[in-house]
Amino acid sequence: MNRSEFIKTSALAGAAIATRPLITYAKQSTYRTALIGSGWWGTNILRCAIQAGQSKVIALCDVDQRQLTKASEEISKLTSDRPKLYRDYRELLAKEKPEVVIVATPDHWHPLIAIAAMEQGAHVYVEKPIGHTVNEGRAMVRTARQTGKVCQVGTHRRVSPHNISGMDFLKSGKAGKIGMVRAFVYYGGGPGQMVADEEAPKELDWNFYCGPAPLVPYNKTIHPRGFRNYLNFANGTLGDWGIHWMDQILWWSEEKYPKKIYSTGGRAIKRDNGDAPDHQVATFEFEDFTAVWEHRNFAGNTAEKTHPDQAVGVYFYGTEGTFHMGWLDGWTFYPASKNKPVIHQDAKLDKPDDQNIAALWTDFLDAINTKRTPICDIEIGHRSTNVSLLGMLSYKLGRSVAWDGEKEQILNDPEANKLLRRDYRGEWKYPV
Ligand SMILES: NC(=O)c1ccc[n+]([C@@H]2O[C@H](COP(=O)([O-])OP(=O)(O)OC[C@H]3O[C@@H](n4cnc5c(N)ncnc54)[C@H](O)[C@@H]3O)[C@@H](O)[C@H]2O)c1
Repeated sequence: MNRSEFIKTSALAGAAIATRPLITYAKQSTYRTALIGSGWWGTNILRCAIQAGQSKVIALCDVDQRQLTKASEEISKLTSDRPKLYRDYRELLAKEKPEVVIVATPDHWHPLIAIAAMEQGAHVYVEKPIGHTVNEGRAMVRTARQTGKVCQVGTHRRVSPHNISGMDFLKSGKAGKIGMVRAFVYYGGGPGQMVADEEAPKELDWNFYCGPAPLVPYNKTIHPRGFRNYLNFANGTLGDWGIHWMDQILWWSEEKYPKKIYSTGGRAIKRDNGDAPDHQVATFEFEDFTAVWEHRNFAGNTAEKTHPDQAVGVYFYGTEGTFHMGWLDGWTFYPASKNKPVIHQDAKLDKPDDQNIAALWTDFLDAINTKRTPICDIEIGHRSTNVSLLGMLSYKLGRSVAWDGEKEQILNDPEANKLLRRDYRGEWKYPV
């Protein structure tokens, strides 16, 4: 398939999954687009950007030359654009002045890069969770507002067809009054094993990878993709997976934050290099309901599966029945009454990786073109990220916290408030 056929086919596919019929999309422009963090997910997003046909890919950036080579080889099959390759995002921003920047690095880098990109003049599509500590998110929201740039967060479940229809179902009251929700993910897995630290490969600038986080010895289980299990760079399964479901809970409830949070868990089984909890429970008291998060990365079993391949999603417990919002399995409503039928809707997901990035990218472009707020605006992403980060904060602290969501402060607990930020390393300055 040549490039124009690829774009045409993809545009048709994009139209088929366009999920908000009331939006008429504005006239098209082409944007000078750069990807920063050219790994697994960044390449997925850039693929959708190319398919949408409104991007000239001018630059790719990664601190690992091997990731850059892999991404640029893949991109060259999809477009005749020949992006320049950079190791340092600051140089990229200064020299290329992109109009659109995708930020898909590990979490600890999102805030500095997204803020620098917006300040340089770019609209930003930043991955979830938006940061590593709560106050970084505040700075990102502030920068988006001060610069007037569109900042879309990659919580693509807000545009997935079954999530939209499921929210309509819940919000119309068909599940009755909902008093409790339970979000979860369970994976099987054993203890794993320790892997020795080593010299970083010559193609990788490890000092830059660690950036504002502590400089730890290089270990191949961290990079690529393994950073999720290391609390210096990310916030474990609740930060990685949980934010998608915390976002669904806020979307459904239209509440902005929980009032009280408690989390416990630990590493009962894992014996590998990671330090993220292998099981965790967190409770979030909202104004009108209680939310529970639960994950376990061992003891996979068929009893708890919601789909032959996974156990994931949110259960909404209502007076009319229980509603499961899932992923591969769409959604299912189990009525309280024995006389009523189970209602189900399949998911409609794109390949690879069963997501709906193309629809979210379409919304991002339209928000830029029409100067409106995008569906997953940074403020929404900040609130959803906060729920996960506050769960992790309570886990790290070992006690419950009361949250003033308007002031974004923990009540009567100076020690806990210190964890809303962290010290950055070396030349890197914590954003304010
Ligand atoms: N929305 C979703 O469903 C979804 C799914 C997967 C991943 N993600 C998010 O995407 C992000 C990336 O995850 P991934 O799985 O693609 O990881 P990855 O390890 O495959 O890619 C991250 C890349 O960023 C590079 N990097 C690190 N520091 C950098 C810097 N300062 N400048 C430029 N590049 C830098 C790394 O070398 C690596 O190549 C994470 O925040 C993750 O949570 C989102």
